[in-house]
Amino acid sequence: MPLVTSAELLQAADAGGYAVGAFNCNNLEILQAILAAAEAERSPVIVQTSQGALEYAGLPLLAAMIRAAAEEATVPVALHLDHGTDFATEVACLRAGYTSLMFDGSKLPYAENVAGTRRIVEIAHAVGVSVEAELGTIAGTEDLVSVSEQEALYTDPEQAEAFVRETGADALAVAVGTAHGVYRQAPHLDFARLEAIDRRVRVPLVLHGSSGVPDDQIREAIRRGVRKINIDTELRQAFSAALRGWLPEHPGEIDPRKILGPARQAMQAKVQEKMRLFGSAGRA
Ligand code: G3H
Ligand code: ZN
Repeated sequence: MPLVTSAELLQAADAGGYAVGAFNCNNLEILQAILAAAEAERSPVIVQTSQGALEYAGLPLLAAMIRAAAEEATVPVALHLDHGTDFATEVACLRAGYTSLMFDGSKLPYAENVAGTRRIVEIAHAVGVSVEAELGTIAGTEDLVSVSEQEALYTDPEQAEAFVRETGADALAVAVGTAHGVYRQAPHLDFARLEAIDRRVRVPLVLHGSSGVPDDQIREAIRRGVRKINIDTELRQAFSAALRGWLPEHPGEIDPRKILGPARQAMQAKVQEKMRLFGSAGRA
């Protein structure tokens, strides 16, 4: 079916009290793993590409591949730019058929974040595309965006309310204790803050850095208003662990399709596990 916007998916998630997984995609095998999982679980899904993914695979190729796969899918798929920081990239993604953009102005001073987000909201809404914004800074590294632990700043609920009103964003990424990448120690999300944000902000909330967050905290976050959950690191871990295990057992194998098959399978299993955890399984 044709791509849908993430606003559409997140509205349905809000009504149903679940969250939609947004999984980072860099190549063919990852895309196949994500969409095979969505089909197997009958789940809506957001396929997202970071600016780093666009550098790696090239926007025209990556976008065309994801759009073609979504056309064939029997579950709703949104195509989203993750952590966009660059105006030209945002516009290029719009032209390439993305149905959802993130503008990540979280490292900018408040007024600049508002102005940058509004600019993207204006052009995206003109063509029916939804926009995710970020307020507060999430520690760790997500491809090209890096925030040190000292720079990390939790989202202020009152400021979040004003930010969404001033920008017109359709979804808000919040900093409530998660971090991008591998956790050195288990995170403890600030649920009181999350609830306070959710009370003041009308749009769906987005949890970044969700790999490695214990399942009970993910469930609690969904209960308190999180409707989009971003997963990247755990997919990388599933893929590379499977590859590392398989290669020494098959030293003579030279066919990339055979080498990548088990890694793709492991990634699909991880995506399916997350879809069940998020409650999106069976919703498509
Ligand atoms: O934007 C992508 C995510 O926030 C992924 O975070 O790598 O910790 O799963 P993660
Ligand atoms: Zn992120």
